[in-house]
Amino acid sequence: MNSIFYITTPIYYVNDDPHIGHAYTTILADVLSRYHRNAGEDTFFLTGLDEHGQKVQQAASDRGVAPQRHCDEMAPRFIKLWEKLHISNDDFIRTTEGRHKRVVQDILQRVYDGGDIYEDEYEGLYSVSEERFITEKEAESGEFRDIRELKEKNYFFRMGSYQQALIDHIKSNPKFIQPEHRKNEILGFLKQPLNDLCISRPKSRLNWGIELPFDSGYVTYVWFDALINYITAPGFGSDEVSFKKWWPASYHLIGKDILTTHAVYWPTMLMSAGIELPTSIFAHGWWLIGESKMSKSLGNVINPMNLIDDYGVDPVRYFLMREMVLGQDASFTLESFIKRYNSDLANDFGNLLSRVTTLVNKNFAGILPNPGELTQFELVIKSSAENLGEFVNDKIRSMCINEAIEETLQFIRSINRYMEHQAPWKLVQEDKKSAGRVLYTAAEALRISAVLLSPVMPNRTADLFDTLNHDSLSLKWGGLQPGNKLKQHKPLFPRIELIMEKKDTEQQKNFITFDDFKKVELKTAEIIKAEKVDGADRLLKIQLKVDADTRQIVAGIAEYYNPETLIGKKVVLVANLKPAKIRGVESQGMLLAASDENSLTLVGLDDDDFPSGVNVS
Ligand code: MSP
Repeated sequence: MNSIFYITTPIYYVNDDPHIGHAYTTILADVLSRYHRNAGEDTFFLTGLDEHGQKVQQAASDRGVAPQRHCDEMAPRFIKLWEKLHISNDDFIRTTEGRHKRVVQDILQRVYDGGDIYEDEYEGLYSVSEERFITEKEAESGEFRDIRELKEKNYFFRMGSYQQALIDHIKSNPKFIQPEHRKNEILGFLKQPLNDLCISRPKSRLNWGIELPFDSGYVTYVWFDALINYITAPGFGSDEVSFKKWWPASYHLIGKDILTTHAVYWPTMLMSAGIELPTSIFAHGWWLIGESKMSKSLGNVINPMNLIDDYGVDPVRYFLMREMVLGQDASFTLESFIKRYNSDLANDFGNLLSRVTTLVNKNFAGILPNPGELTQFELVIKSSAENLGEFVNDKIRSMCINEAIEETLQFIRSINRYMEHQAPWKLVQEDKKSAGRVLYTAAEALRISAVLLSPVMPNRTADLFDTLNHDSLSLKWGGLQPGNKLKQHKPLFPRIELIMEKKDTEQQKNFITFDDFKKVELKTAEIIKAEKVDGADRLLKIQLKVDADTRQIVAGIAEYYNPETLIGKKVVLVANLKPAKIRGVESQGMLLAASDENSLTLVGLDDDDFPSGVNVS
């Protein structure tokens, strides 16, 4: 086992508004770092910002400020988010820092001196939005914006000459590109001849970048500059001892869209500079919002700050880690977030702690009882707890975080079942000693689960340790001391009620326009007949008078209203709902009703004598 663990996130574009995609990679790196730290490994976790290039220069000039000032003003948005998300990074790098500029120039000079950079006149298609020359084929793909014909003298890196060396490296290091399908994607890409890489931009066009050490008329291409951050931070060229300790990185975590830059540009750059390659590049999938890509134009970009404000940091971290299978895309919806929260965190995890502490407080004066001699039930739990530790460790090391979490939750569920089965609330009357054994066992199982979940939810698990009055991270059964005084606690994960869902739906700007609303034709109506629908307990068939017309509708209100009591009621009808057959009965509209889980009431009129068939708006 490697006792040094160095993990990086991509450095994010300083201009971007931080969104759930940035938050995800950073939380993932944080969770992995915390697991490795807990396992006693020396861990270095790096994140930061990508601050050069055309887009930053443009955004600064649009705001009428100098680019450096623009970056300085934008950077805190990320720093604040990481603080709020309890990200435990060891360094935060910004590419405009002096320490980074020096390393970029050093690498450029080495590569140049080694004969791998040459000057050439290039004529071709250039995508301003991507800040690079593109091929005809790429231009035709429609994925690139702001395409121009450009003829320019530039500097090129002989990337093509490392093609075979790269293929060999990928093949002989199966973990170099993960997951497997991404490795195959890169090997497929490398079947075509690999072009050299244009690594300069003339200052006449762009000056917000790091100057080439061998030609002051040019700045460095933003990707050539950005990738180097991974060696700047651990001390390349400035602190050889530190650099030797951390490099090569254990993992570069990235999203699938930046695979080529990491798995092709970066290793060939390192080969040319004579530096060892990172151990693994791991590309995760994308968060989709429902079924769609997240994008500004769709207006579905999820701002993690809002989620944290509403639901807390740990539940957001939990959801993101539990829901994404690493390597595949995952879907974010508020419904699935709330469902997962209520079932896993409120019902299974939080509830178990409340049950245990309530019973210990009530029957043992808040003092954790002695387990005494274990029966077969406790022995099974003890051994599953021990196996669970190993299972989680293996899953984390093979990047199956969702499985590690799910297995821990399964364990918690099994403890809830054990509680149901043993019923210590009854047992305490007849056999207090056994009740004590059950409560100790459940508390110890909770402690071990919290140790295993602590990298994902560092705050709420700390609350749990505080309640149990014990904070050892040991995974050995029996860590809790009988005789410990348990502390009072607020519910660990209070259920999220529906009212919050509504608030959030509004936050997602799920508004309809007035024109949308006008499409709904609402009319007053009078109920003139109501009867049960045969064979359907919940349905009533209702005849309505709507001015001179009669309408028939089917409504699911039989549990709340006796048909006879409805006659003569004035109600509100959705008059232009497409007719439908419900249980074979024609329904020509719908009645408005207010309902929650336990009750329902029809929307009526304030004035009983008001005529039917009048528009409601
Ligand atoms: N600046 C470059 C990275 C340079 S690293 C030397 C960059 N920055 S970025 O801010 O645009 O994106 C950073 C990361 O966010 C990428 O890994 C990208 O995959 C990830 N995500 C952007 N949208 C995402 C989702 N919707 N879901 C998950 N991750 C996504 O690229």
